[in-house]
Amino acid sequence: MAAQTILVTGGAGYIGSHTCVQLLAAGHDVVVVDNLSNSSTVALDRVADIAGRSVAFHEVDLRDRVALAEVFDDHDVDRVVHFAGLKAVGESVEIPVAYYDNNIVGTVNLLNAMADHEVFDLVFSSSCTVYGEPEVVPITEDAPIGAVSPYGRTKLYIEELLRDAAAADKRWRTVLLRYFNPVGAHPSGTIGEDPTGIPNNLMPYAMQVAIGRLERLRVFGGDYDTPDGTCIRDYIHVVDLADAHLAALGALDRIEGCEAVNVGTGTGSSVLEVVAAASNAVGADIPHDVVDRRPGDVPCVFADTGRAESLLRWSARLDLADMCRDHWNWQRQNPAGYGS
Ligand code: NAD
Ligand code: WQD
Repeated sequence: MAAQTILVTGGAGYIGSHTCVQLLAAGHDVVVVDNLSNSSTVALDRVADIAGRSVAFHEVDLRDRVALAEVFDDHDVDRVVHFAGLKAVGESVEIPVAYYDNNIVGTVNLLNAMADHEVFDLVFSSSCTVYGEPEVVPITEDAPIGAVSPYGRTKLYIEELLRDAAAADKRWRTVLLRYFNPVGAHPSGTIGEDPTGIPNNLMPYAMQVAIGRLERLRVFGGDYDTPDGTCIRDYIHVVDLADAHLAALGALDRIEGCEAVNVGTGTGSSVLEVVAAASNAVGADIPHDVVDRRPGDVPCVFADTGRAESLLRWSARLDLADMCRDHWNWQRQNPAGYGS
């Protein structure tokens, strides 16, 4: 794909910042819109250090229609990658209206601003959470969908919204990327995931135990019907995931309407396998106890990657050892995240 101007919503966040690096490296100009509700401009400074040039940054909330229109007025945007959203499953159960407001209203405003400026090419951050509890693994994109949390439903409804928009107006071309479990960090160790408060997710929790910020990891459930009794997930290196966005932007030229694509490795790893791989990367055992199951966890989830290979011409290159090495490198260099 020739060099373009790509607008990245949520570009200061975890996946967004890694995607900005890959976009800049591929020669694109990048415009970031982020309200910094879960991120810091330090991430964008580090992106510039890695890439050797900066993104154009606008501190704007997607719900602010006037400010968003001004961003499109200021830049000749060709395509959009839409990461901005709230993403904590548990929090979405506590404050569902805030999740619908942020994720759905933000997306509706974005679509209106895009259409007003004749921009119809979009890559959207969806999630494997839209599959709920899958009946069959590996999961194909044609599997039944039905999210089980307000967060997941915002993803589901946005997917439907984008499908409806594409059905009504053939100018819309959209790739819905359904991410599995993103982990890891840029190999420089200068950008990475910086969760606020106590992490909900396995890898950042394990790494914060390793660095001494948290005492012990709890392994949620040792009695699942899996080989070692712990849950299986498809972990994907965030740099591979970032590259999938470049592949999806390129694929927009080859698709019509709206296409959903899984982004995983196709390989499942159990919680205990992750703990072992993380301990290996750290060079010391990560203290852990197997405790009760966490409500809502499904036993086994991993992706069928066939459509990513055929439609995006992309597949993951990095494995669990790479993910743990790079996540630890980031954690070690930035023990308190961007506040270090
Ligand atoms: P993140 O919180 O690090 O990044 C999201 C960014 O969006 C943040 O910088 C935040 O400040 C910004 N933002 C949120 N609401 C906004 C608004 N209304 N206006 C402008 N900016 C706003 O999260 P992430 O892990 O990088 O996830 C990016 C996207 O990928 C999200 O949509 C998330 O739901 C999706 N996703 C993430 C995962 C995961 O495990 N990390 C898995 C599947 C899907
Ligand atoms: C992975 C495994 C836990 C923490 C979540 C969202 C999903 C998507 C990705 C956004 C599970 C176990 C975890 C801990 C543990 N995000 N675990 N101890 O639940 O697969 O997916 O993030 O779209 O929507 O639900 O990821 O990292 O929380 O858990 O044993 O302290 O690790 O039980 O089996 P999950 P996770």
